[in-house]
Amino acid sequence: MHEEIFSPSFGNRPSSLVGRERLLNQIETGLQSRPGSRERAVVLLGQRGSGKTVLLWELADRMRQQGFAVASPTIVSEGMLERILEKIEDDCDGSSDGKPHLAGGSVGALGFSAGIQFERDTPTTKSPQQRLVQLCRQLTAKGRGILILVDELQASSPEIRQLIGTYQEMVGERLNVAIVMAGLPGAVSTTLNDKVLTFLNRSRKITLDPLEYGEVDAFFKRSFDTLGIAIASDLRRKASEYTAGSPYLLQLVGHYTCLYAEDGTVTEASLAEALQTSSEDFKSDVCATTLAALSDRDIDFLTALASQGDEASTAVIAELMGATTDYAQKYRRRLLDGGVIKPAGRGKVAFAVPFLGEHLRWEER
Ligand SMILES: Nc1ncnc2c1ncn2[C@@H]1O[C@H](COP(=O)(O)OP(=O)(O)OP(=O)(O)O)[C@@H](O)[C@H]1O
Ligand SMILES: [Mg+2]
Repeated sequence: MHEEIFSPSFGNRPSSLVGRERLLNQIETGLQSRPGSRERAVVLLGQRGSGKTVLLWELADRMRQQGFAVASPTIVSEGMLERILEKIEDDCDGSSDGKPHLAGGSVGALGFSAGIQFERDTPTTKSPQQRLVQLCRQLTAKGRGILILVDELQASSPEIRQLIGTYQEMVGERLNVAIVMAGLPGAVSTTLNDKVLTFLNRSRKITLDPLEYGEVDAFFKRSFDTLGIAIASDLRRKASEYTAGSPYLLQLVGHYTCLYAEDGTVTEASLAEALQTSSEDFKSDVCATTLAALSDRDIDFLTALASQGDEASTAVIAELMGATTDYAQKYRRRLLDGGVIKPAGRGKVAFAVPFLGEHLRWEER
């Protein structure tokens, strides 16, 4: 039963989207600004489990309501452009969910999807780039926009280079197109020094912050009430704090708190067990995956940090790494760029991913 409210798994649309309303409204407004404006190209950056994929799907829904033809989130991989093309064509057909996509638009706009002829069945020698531009021209002429959504951004991939080139071509023609790409904070790394990086730097970069405590707590209160789970307010506040504002951790904590409740009542013991299990899942799903993407030296840096508690100065870390401060600075920079650590004042850094320090100390044993 509680699975209807809490479902901790990646890419899963949550029953209720916590704390992203303002951000979504801002992005939505930006995507509808003048074609070619900076607000129309958005890069969403966030750690694992911060809710990037979910936001992309939410934007897809919202922008369809605004009459846009949307290419639902496509993961960067070979043949990406073809897939984007197909998704937009499907969206225009209205065949993807059988519903008309315009909520109360003008008659002309509503009658539109039936009125456009695609050449998808006729053999074509045109490249996917050319076909995408052509489709966008047709749609722009009909007063409709195109929104392209890309997930798991790999800025150095040839597919992204190609897509960005095509986007710029469309913008050059003043076509009604917008793009949102989501990736890990390190995805836009300074090691890229070409057109792609310039483009990404000029687009609107948004970092997904942790959810606000108040929003998490209000959501827990609402959800436990709905589910008929009894929980004392101090225990509920403890659960809310434990999430550290991570959407994925919020799903885990909610799920296990309900699962371990005794006859519908959360006790101190059942909550402790729920939090313990949540952190274990989080460590293996988020911490371990985050570390797997790093180099051995990055991990040496993090292990040194972990040995000092959850905060340390670069000088101390360098000493523990047996390296010069300059050398350690390089790794500090990389890890900051990657959103794995954050500045903690007075030359110190701290972990930016919940439980990462604990996870490393546990691994060291
Ligand atoms: N605003 C939110 N409110 C409630 N739950 C959320 C919210 N955002 C995400 N979630 C939940 O958190 C989990 C992770 O979300 P999601 O898969 O979108 O993260 P992600 O940033 O795409 O992670 P990854 O980098 O691993 O792909 C899912 O279970 C999702 O339902
Ligand atoms: Mg994702």
